[in-house]
Amino acid sequence: MDIQALTNEIKDEMIQIRRHIHQHPELSMQEYQTTELIMDTLKNTSIALTKLPGDTGVIGVLRGGHDGRTLGLRADIDALPINEQTGLSFTSKREGIMHACGHDLHTTVLLGTALVLDRIKDTLSGNIKFIFQPGEEIMQGAKLIIEEGVLEKEPKVDEIICLHTWPLVDSGKIGVRKGPIMAATDTFEIIIEGSGGHAAHPHLSIDPIPVAGQIIGAFQTIISRRTSPLDSAVVTLGQIHGGNTNNTIAKNVTISGTIRSLSHELRESIKKEIKDISENIGKAFNTGITVTFFPGSPPVINNDKLVDIMSEAVKENLGDNNLVYLREPSLGGEDFSFYLQERDGMLFRIGTRNENEASQRSLHNPGIIFDEDAIPTGIIAMSSFALKYLNKYN
Ligand code: NI
Repeated sequence: MDIQALTNEIKDEMIQIRRHIHQHPELSMQEYQTTELIMDTLKNTSIALTKLPGDTGVIGVLRGGHDGRTLGLRADIDALPINEQTGLSFTSKREGIMHACGHDLHTTVLLGTALVLDRIKDTLSGNIKFIFQPGEEIMQGAKLIIEEGVLEKEPKVDEIICLHTWPLVDSGKIGVRKGPIMAATDTFEIIIEGSGGHAAHPHLSIDPIPVAGQIIGAFQTIISRRTSPLDSAVVTLGQIHGGNTNNTIAKNVTISGTIRSLSHELRESIKKEIKDISENIGKAFNTGITVTFFPGSPPVINNDKLVDIMSEAVKENLGDNNLVYLREPSLGGEDFSFYLQERDGMLFRIGTRNENEASQRSLHNPGIIFDEDAIPTGIIAMSSFALKYLNKYN
């Protein structure tokens, strides 16, 4: 049987599973019931299943009928601390927790892909490692899986792919992009230390507030004057705190913000600009300056060869019209990038947009309604990619 027919057989069951997951969302690193559901759905397959430590997340290994490479297929399974406002019949039963990033669809697509590939395992030249990953939203799950040696353990993962819902692409279509597709996300904090003093005698103290103003002004040149206009990046200052009364010179000012960038080089150069500008302005005005960076996730940079294989798989199994080449990357972050420090890989998009306005809202919006017809599309894309990938290297 072919992949479309096998997907059609399980389509209704998959939609029910997705609705169940949607109704019972779990926060990052607390995905206990989702983990049980994954184990239960795959229990009658030949996939060897292991729970991750802490009982959140599942690794499954499917051995094909012939020798070959091992492909990692990853889906994230966690939900967000958001109060759902969709009005769906299967709306979240847990107040304040919602699958607003579509990870319920990701989990279901990977489950469906596992069921389909299990049925055709004898024709596979190589192995599949299914990674049902917890804790993506807090950027912990991928690191945990790498530390557990999941990529290294036999069969060792050669390359890895993942999917993400996308409200900018129509349901039924798959979006691909070569090179960068998601951004590096880092945060930082700058503490400007003055002396404190009486507001009436500024010359007798060191005031950090005008220094903060100089730093904020100078930061506007990091993107506009120091970054190539052909590169994309963001520096946003999200918080500023200083002083506590009107007639006193503040002792300290704290500024904090986030950096988004699409290349490893830009990620480093922006950090250097932030540090240099802050320290040099501090020096000019005699304040103490402490700059601290909190590293987030690296950029997601797709492997071109894997994008070509996916493009072929989509054209052959879903039709030429259902392949969308994404013009722009997103400046959102994704912890899939940690796997890409270890292996080549690719993130692709499953379109979840339809004519309903609620499907066109942004990810993490409490009212977003993903088009669930995207589920069979995702299963066909992922399964046919896996088949094509493994047979290519036979
Ligand atoms: Ni997400």
